[in-house]
Amino acid sequence: MVKKCEAFTCLLSALVVIVGVVRSSELIKTTEARNIYNIFGYQQEPSCSCVCATPRRHRGKIVGGMETQPHEFPWLAAIFVDEILHCGGTVITELHILTAAHCLQGTPKQYVVVLGAHNLHDEIGDVYMVSDILVHELYKPYHHDIALMKLARKIRFSDVVRAGCLPKIWRNSYAGEMGVVIGWGQVGESEASSSTLQKVGVPIIPTQECMKYYKADEVSNHMVCAGYPEGKKDSCKGDSGGPLHVVSDSGYLEIIGIVSFGRGCARANTPGVYTKIADYMDWIRFWIGNNCLCSHPYFQNAFYF
Ligand code: ARG
Repeated sequence: MVKKCEAFTCLLSALVVIVGVVRSSELIKTTEARNIYNIFGYQQEPSCSCVCATPRRHRGKIVGGMETQPHEFPWLAAIFVDEILHCGGTVITELHILTAAHCLQGTPKQYVVVLGAHNLHDEIGDVYMVSDILVHELYKPYHHDIALMKLARKIRFSDVVRAGCLPKIWRNSYAGEMGVVIGWGQVGESEASSSTLQKVGVPIIPTQECMKYYKADEVSNHMVCAGYPEGKKDSCKGDSGGPLHVVSDSGYLEIIGIVSFGRGCARANTPGVYTKIADYMDWIRFWIGNNCLCSHPYFQNAFYF
């Protein structure tokens, strides 16, 4: 027998039923999505609606260190400690910044992240507090120099703030390609850091060769080295944690390294050393959890918003 309910309890149970139906249909949607990904062999996590990097890049030839176009690298984060530039980083999800482990040896409260900046003295970009720090569990100088910052609120993406593209496929080596490294770090070994964002082109060399220039236990295969035999062009102090890029086959910039260490800066036969991101993609995917990475752009000259 159907018992008639009283107005209030009736409303309450109707509400419970509605919530239940909505929740379970959401559950079905996500499990269906997972199955579709599995069938087609795509990555496990659902991809975001966003697209990383930008195909509308400036094609100026990079010869020496030079100022970037404002907002040419909208994925670059400036990490500050006590209002002083501490390190660089890369926006990879709407909550996460990828950087170097040696940049994050303090507590989350100490760091402030600024996005969408170009001249650090004139204007200041969007400011974010940090809620969590994830340093690679095997980090010890100079190895596994990779870490993530989780921001206290979601990033507001815009024309000047967007995610960078991480390596799409694993590659053994990038030797022979031109790397592009950016940062506000020191413009010389004993010079001040730069107020405007700088970029420099550095040729990537085989890691085996790089091992000759450093002590036996300093360089591993999980690193990428870049520099000219005569030095002169390099990243430097303050650039740490920032991205090293190569131009992908489709013409957009792919972030393949994290500025890690060097002996001095731009010295002859002393390449800069970068963490090889491709070797840590599973580590990154694990720690970003349900936060998706943006898809890579398909076409070189298409517009994405
Ligand atoms: N470890 C330095 C930093 O904390 C950056 C090292 C890069 N050095 C180089 N010669 N490439 O900012």
